[in-house]
Amino acid sequence: MDKILILDFGSQYTQLIARRVRELGVYCEIHPYNLPFNAVKVFGPKGIILSGSPASVYQPDAPLCDREVIDQGAPVLGICYGMGVIGGFNGAITARAAYREYGRAELAIDDASDLFAGLAGGLTVWMSHGDKLEKIPRSFRQLAHTVNSPFAAIRHTQRPLYGVQFHPEVAHTAKGKEIIGNFLFKICGCAPNWEMRSFAEIAIEKIRDRVGDGRVLCALSGGVDSSVTALLVHRAIGHRLTCVFVDNGLLRKGERAQVERTFGEHLGLNLISVDAGERFLTRLKGIVDPEEKRKIIGGEFIAVFEEESRRLGRFEYLAQGTLYPDVIESVSVKGPSVTIKTHHNVGGLPERIDFQLIEPLRELFKDEVRALGKELALPDAILWRQPFPGPGLAVRIVGEVTSVRLALLREADAIVEEEISKAKLDRELWQSFAVLLPIKTVGVMGDERTYEHVIAIRAVTSLDGMTADWARLPHDLLQAIGSRIVSEVKGINRVVYDISSKPPSTIEWE
Ligand code: XMP
Repeated sequence: MDKILILDFGSQYTQLIARRVRELGVYCEIHPYNLPFNAVKVFGPKGIILSGSPASVYQPDAPLCDREVIDQGAPVLGICYGMGVIGGFNGAITARAAYREYGRAELAIDDASDLFAGLAGGLTVWMSHGDKLEKIPRSFRQLAHTVNSPFAAIRHTQRPLYGVQFHPEVAHTAKGKEIIGNFLFKICGCAPNWEMRSFAEIAIEKIRDRVGDGRVLCALSGGVDSSVTALLVHRAIGHRLTCVFVDNGLLRKGERAQVERTFGEHLGLNLISVDAGERFLTRLKGIVDPEEKRKIIGGEFIAVFEEESRRLGRFEYLAQGTLYPDVIESVSVKGPSVTIKTHHNVGGLPERIDFQLIEPLRELFKDEVRALGKELALPDAILWRQPFPGPGLAVRIVGEVTSVRLALLREADAIVEEEISKAKLDRELWQSFAVLLPIKTVGVMGDERTYEHVIAIRAVTSLDGMTADWARLPHDLLQAIGSRIVSEVKGINRVVYDISSKPPSTIEWE
């Protein structure tokens, strides 16, 4: 199998490079920029890609790879900072640009023979740099330029060394995938024969090697990420995987039964459900502040999980369904990428418990995880589940969480889910759910005045949950949802529709 090695100098886009390479059907791995040359030889890449970096090549402590990595013979493509690294080893001069370039730029292609084959003319590309190549040595020539960067793309005249100042891996660069494809197929000679099945096989093999005859514990929520993680580990080590499903009493209608049926009965996993609803409710009594709710739920989850793991005996490993977007905002993946913010999903459990982590999805994006789940025959009902927050219905009950209010919300939410899926919109929407508001309003039913609770409906479209727009649901669908909730859920007499986007609002109400 042809392999591409990506050396990470800390760019936020490194994973996107990997994703594009995978989309083009070629296997790749990301390693830190300082991977020793011996390890590079053992890996045996058909080509190497050097990522961008927040650093500057002319800084005294600039991260650099071994020179032999550039000289080993297989083609090398340097992106942004990576181009500076290739250039630097060959006598090029990089300097702080007079104009920093961020965002779109017009690229004029001067040579469309290899890296830009089939792309003669001009392209809109995405730039994000403060440095640029001032001068290139005679052994290099220019392939493309922009108004601000005379050397926006270069290559060595004799050897297969290429550099681009812009980012072909981001969606804003037109034909970026074609440029990466030219590097993989025309320049490195890779064959496009890698697919998700291979990812599954390799991931299973890696888990098997790592775990040996150890035991693995997995917190299974029934969401697609933890489900795919559990299936991979199960394929690798079978019954030495134990999954723990914590029923915190904040789940949606029928959720626990669905998880138990799917994973316990249907897929044959070793699944333990913990009935902890009472515990969570007691701890949430009287709490109205959203952050406090989240902290209590997170803390209680860890407590339950720790107790359960102690009860079940010693586990050396903990499997977690951390995805790349969870990682990028919390810590550096494998290289020196700058920490942006700490995410709630990463780092909570392992610091408190003595486990080694297994995170097989750490380099994947959500849609890739779904593709992987499909390979592993995960049923559609789980595969296509919308995201559901860890704190569950508690952050969709504005105000205090009580069993009565949970029951109201659960029923209303089940109606939303049913109607949305009947309208076949569940996969199109990022999320759609009900929220219980902390107010009562007046209504009239029959001849009687009512004074009851209000449900808000939230339905959003989004690519990644970072930004979202409210969904333009058909009026007839809203009508069906509204009238069913008021007539079927006793205690609700009004339904409203949330027309806020994110930002400035968030998707969840708390
Ligand atoms: P917000 O409300 O911040 O949510 O716009 C963005 C996405 O994240 C989900 N979410 C969470 N997921 N634990 C999770 O696993 C949490 O505490 C949490 N809070 C929000 C939310 O459902 C949406 O998809």
